[in-house]
Order: sequence, then structure tokens, then C-alpha cells
Amino acid sequence: MADFGHNATELVIDDKESGIFRIHRSAFVDDDILKMEREKIFDKAWLFAGHVSEFPKPGDFITRTVAGRPIILVHSDDGEIRALMNTCRHRGNLVCREHKGSNAEVFRCFYHGWIYNTRGELKGIPGEEAYSEAFDRESLGLEPAPRMHNYRGCIFISYDPEMEDFESYMADALPLLDNTLDQGDMEFVEGHFKYSMRANWKLLVENSMDGYHFAFTHERFITHFLPDVGLGAHAEGTPGPGSTEDNVGALPAALGNGHATIALPNANRASGAATPYLERYAPEGLEAYRKMLAAGHGKDKAKMIEFGSGNYLIFPNLMIIDGWFVFRTFYPTSPDYMEINGWACMPKEDSPELRKARLEWYMGFQGPGGFATPDDVEGLEGCQMGFKTHKEVEWSDISRGMNGNTKGGSSELQMRAFWREWHARLATGQHAVDTND
Ligand code: FES
Ligand SMILES: [Fe+2]
Repeated sequence: MADFGHNATELVIDDKESGIFRIHRSAFVDDDILKMEREKIFDKAWLFAGHVSEFPKPGDFITRTVAGRPIILVHSDDGEIRALMNTCRHRGNLVCREHKGSNAEVFRCFYHGWIYNTRGELKGIPGEEAYSEAFDRESLGLEPAPRMHNYRGCIFISYDPEMEDFESYMADALPLLDNTLDQGDMEFVEGHFKYSMRANWKLLVENSMDGYHFAFTHERFITHFLPDVGLGAHAEGTPGPGSTEDNVGALPAALGNGHATIALPNANRASGAATPYLERYAPEGLEAYRKMLAAGHGKDKAKMIEFGSGNYLIFPNLMIIDGWFVFRTFYPTSPDYMEINGWACMPKEDSPELRKARLEWYMGFQGPGGFATPDDVEGLEGCQMGFKTHKEVEWSDISRGMNGNTKGGSSELQMRAFWREWHARLATGQHAVDTND
């Protein structure tokens, strides 16, 4: 087996002329590669941390691990949203140990009782007289994340103080995020999924944009779930991201800087993935919702917003799944293990009927007992087990559709776009010049 060590340049075969794209499987198992990913990707990216609807009022906060660091997202008493590093300036303990809370006036470290206000300022030290003149309380507030950007309620942070501005980082993915956020006054529904997989994090990037696996991995969704809820196995527009070449308008695209989608938003698409379900189970709520969208955006744009994009990736690890109203992030803790968070993001304008139907659709597919998540966990953990043979069987193939034979949702262009950026970051520390085929 080739030993790549710290040399990332040979991990990808990208032969555009012959239409061959391969990934060396050490990318999924090697500790040195994960170390490089942490330095060159996760520490130099805009990372999704949360949504303002999770902590809407002054005194509200959530805590979360973002790229391995504990973070507090807080709505401070001055009305500002802040992302603070959740570590006490005394001797390091987590200052806030709750997942979520409201009406907080202070955060008190339980270890020796140092007290910070919701702006992160250090306000109380038990026995402060024991410190010298040189001790400067003002300078010992909770450290903010080096960069934070609130984009229409989505909070992104970066650990790189020199990070390029958010809009340029987003490149052609920004209109897709806008299309998602145009669905209404968006909120993260209370409660979210936290789960883990014995699999490399990049397998979930691939899987979340993989139209090719749908009919096989999620066969029961098509043969059982859809008929059981009164939607024929071949109901128009379903199963969305699983659709193949014949789903009109399903055009995968590289969106620059590693962002990619399985299908661009398109007013001529037959429907969104959720459409038949919502039409059947929330007809009145959906009609009112469509009127609202059309009044705000015009008919064509309203359709584009309602039907959404195909699953899309904001590099490196924010996956937005319009067809099931999902935001999802995932981080590696080791080459063969990742921790995943999934949220339902829905319009506040929903009637109770429409919200109920959206949640059923979301849970039926994405939930822990749903028709996708357990199947995908099984699929990805199986790949990781297969990678035990990586010394004998060195390469994975991601060539599908590379020479234009497959333009539809089962192309693997969207994965190649991710891998090209991944490869450029590791090999050069820069964005890929071109992530397209
Ligand atoms: S570590 Fe927080 S008060 Fe000592
Ligand atoms: Fe899947």
C-alpha cells in the first residue's frame, strides 16, 4: 500500500479526460489525515453553530460543541447575540453545563464560583482580595469565538480570525440558503436529534447528497411507507432526493468552495419531496401557505421556494435537506466515528395542521425510527467496516456521471465537488480553483 503520511496530493485521482475519479481509502481511516482536516478545513471554515430561534430572548442560551470546542450561544442582556468559548478563564472548567436555558442573568462556574454576565464579562470572583494589583479582572471575560456571522438568523462561527467574509466563502451556495430561508419566518423546532455513527464524517457528506443509493438503501420507504400513507410508490415528485435521471429539473451542481447540491432550485420541477404528503394531510394549511408565499414572492419564485433545492452541502459539514426541512451538522471525533446533530427548520407561519404534517414527514424519514436515518447508519457503518481492508483494496470510486452520462440526481458530481475542495485544502491550504467536472 502506498504510504501517504502527510502528503495529501496523491489521495485523489481526478482524471477529467477519461472520466475517472477515485479516493484513496486512507482518507477514511488515517489519524494524520484527520489531524490535517482539523487544521486545514475545520479551523478555516465558516461553521454552522445554531439558529437564533433556539435562544430568541435576552437571557436565553444554548451550548453546543462546534468542531470539538464547547461554545455558548447567548442572547445577551444588551440584545446582542454572542458566541462565547465555554471555558472558565480561571482554570478552565465549562462555565455553562446546561444544553439550553432562559432568563439567565449570569453564568457561574461551579468549580470555584467565578461569575460572568450574559455578555461574557467577569463580574464576580469569590475572595477577590487575594489577587495582586496586576490581576486584571476586565481582561478575563469569556473569550468570544474569533469570528461570528449572523446570516438571516443562522449563526456561523469561525476559529480563524482572518477568515474571509461569509458571503465570499458561500460563493454560489448563498442563493440556495436564501431559497431555504425564504420559506417564511424560519424557526428550529424545539428538540433535536443527536446521534453518532461508527463511520468517517465524509461518508455522511457523500451519503447526504447521494441520489444513487435511495432506491436501494431506502427501498422500504418506497415499497411500504409511501403506500401505507396513501401515496403510491410512484407518486409524482417522490422520493425527491432519491429520484434518478427522470426527475425533470434535478440538476446537481458544484457551487464553488466545496459547496454542492444534488439539485438546484427550479420553478419547473414537478414538486418538492414533501409535496404529495402535505397536499394530502394538510390541504388547507398548505393552500394558505402557498397564498402567503405567492403574495410575497410571485408565483414562480413561490414554487421554487416551496419545492426547495435538492439536498445541499455548505462546506465542510452543514447539510440542508429542503425536502424534509432538515439542517444537519456532523463532526469527527476519530477517523471512524462522528457525532451528528439534526434539526427541523420550519416556517413560523405554519397552521397547526401544516406543522403537524411537516413534522410527520420529517420524523417518518429522518427520525430515529424513520425510514432513512437507521438505514443510512447501517450503510455507512458497513462502508467503514469495509475500509478495514484499505491496505489491500485502496480506492473508492466516485466517477458516476463524470463524462456527462448522468445529469440527474444519481450523478456523483456533487460528491466530487466536495472532494476537490477537500483535496485542495489539504494539499495547498487554499480553495480549489474549480470544483466542477
Ligand atoms: S475553573 Fe472556573 S472558577 Fe475555577
Ligand atoms: Fe439515505
